Order: sequence, then C-alpha cells, then structure tokens
Amino acid sequence: MQKPTLDISTRFGVDPFFEEVGVCIINNDVCNSNLFAGEFIDLIVTSPPYNVGIDYDSNDDTLGYEDYLDFSRQWIQNCYEWSKPHARLLLNIPLDKNKGGNRSVGADLTRIAQAVDWKYHATIVWNEGNISRRTAWGSWMSASAPYVIAPVELIVILYKESWKKQLGSKESDISRDEFMAWTNGVWTFNGESKKRVGHPAPFPRELPYRCIKLFSYVEDVVFDPFLGSGTTLIEAHNNGRFGVGVEIDRGYCELAQKRIMNSRSLFTTLREPE
Ligand SMILES: C[S@@+](CC[C@H](N)C(=O)[O-])C[C@H]1O[C@@H](n2cnc3c(N)ncnc32)[C@H](O)[C@@H]1O
Repeated sequence: MQKPTLDISTRFGVDPFFEEVGVCIINNDVCNSNLFAGEFIDLIVTSPPYNVGIDYDSNDDTLGYEDYLDFSRQWIQNCYEWSKPHARLLLNIPLDKNKGGNRSVGADLTRIAQAVDWKYHATIVWNEGNISRRTAWGSWMSASAPYVIAPVELIVILYKESWKKQLGSKESDISRDEFMAWTNGVWTFNGESKKRVGHPAPFPRELPYRCIKLFSYVEDVVFDPFLGSGTTLIEAHNNGRFGVGVEIDRGYCELAQKRIMNSRSLFTTLREPE
C-alpha cells in the first residue's frame, strides 16, 4: 500500500527541498506571496527573526525598526492567506528589546497581526529562566537610568476566523495533566543550546510540542514559515501531524532535514488531510 503524502509540491507547484510522507521543507523566502496559491494550514508555530543582530547565514537581522515591521506585516499577511478559516497562529516573539533603542516588539507585532485580520485570543508568557545571564543594569543602584529586563518571551495566540475548530480529525492526544498544566499561561522551561543544535536561535523541543498538542488535532497541517533547524516539524510528525516549513537558508534546510530524519517515528499512521 502506498504511504499517504501531503504532496505540497504537486498541489502548489512548488519545488521542495525535501518532501516525504507527512513532511515538506521549502527553501524559499516566506515574504514571497506567490509561494502557495491556496489555504492549507491548520496551525502555525513559529519564531521569526527578532532583528536583534543574530548572525544568521542568509538574512540580515539588523534592519531599521520600520523595515522590520514592514517585513513582519508581509509574512504575517502571507500566512493569513495560506491558512484555513479555523487556523491558529502561535507566534513566539520577544516582549520587548533594548538593543538599538527600546521597542515594544510584542505589542507591535500583535497589533500588526490584528491589522492583517488575525483575531487575538490570549498570550502565553514563556519564562526561560535565563536571569543568570543578566549583565546590563543601566545606572547601578541609582534611579538615574536603571534597565528593567524581563527574562521571558511571549507566545501570542491568534486565529483566523473562528476559535472553535470545526474541521479535522477531532482527535486530541493531550493528557489530563498536560491540559491542566499548559492552560496555565505561564510556561517555564529552558531555552535550547545553539551549539548542540548547530543553529543560532533554535526552539527547545518543548515549545512546539506543547503548542501542537494543545492547539491542533492529530493529522492537522502544522506550518513553520521560519523553519530554522526544523524543530517544529520534528514535533509535528513525531506527534502524527503533517508538517510544512519554509526556510530561506539552504544550510539550515539541510540541518532540518537531518534532524527530522534522525527523529522520525510515526509517519505510517498518517492519512490524507481534508
Ligand atoms: C528564530 S530562527 C527560527 C528557529 C527555529 N524555530 C528552530 O527551532 O530552529 C528564524 C529563522 O528564519 C529564517 N529566515 C529569516 N528570514 C526568512 C525569510 N524571509 N523566509 C524564510 N526564512 C527566513 C532564518 O534563516 C532562521 O533560520
């Protein structure tokens, strides 16, 4: 019997970097609005570049702030066009930043998403517990100009048209304890080691794992427009979901493919999505 595939390449005429049962990696720019001509996404789990000067191999992480907001508007709009009506967007972004001027990044991107027509649902605060790395105090023990830094990031939860999921397998695979713990909107777990993964800003596996189990059905299509080292797709297909990722850097696509191949388990149980 032939294994089911999502077959994104045939459906949208895109040239995949890697496509196998249940998983598709596309080496392209997510700001390209012609990448997909139609809706296919049930859940987006992603962390865009934060524009804080990270040394990515293919994109400039030092844009002027207005250019960064324009870039954000473009990809958030594209994701909206490619999403099914009940789709959710789980957006991991900083609360704020102080490099190159203090900016309310979390509030600004949430506002842009809403302007694009994503509806706001809630925000999870991810406590990364990295307070020990703290070095900048501003004016030490003086009210002159102290710096306040919250060692947290946000996971903003948005949806396209309706919060209630009407379509899909209707099969949830979350345990009672997971559901109770994760619906408390403060999540505490450590970040991932860049060195261990070989990418400058990887997700800890726990982040997409929780988002996927809490917010999608088994066999849903999970999308990450900034795939990086592939963590979202690893968790998507290890948990019986289809996974599609876009990544601009070919080297990171190779890394993502390698990590996915090394962690695969559930492919054979997937059916064609609706
Ligand atoms: C914060 S990292 C994502 C890391 C990912 N969550 C992981 O677990 O490895 C952002 C990624 O977006 C990619 N990127 C930047 N601009 C892009 C664009 N316009 N289109 C697609 N990918 C892009 C970068 O190369 C980088 O790998």
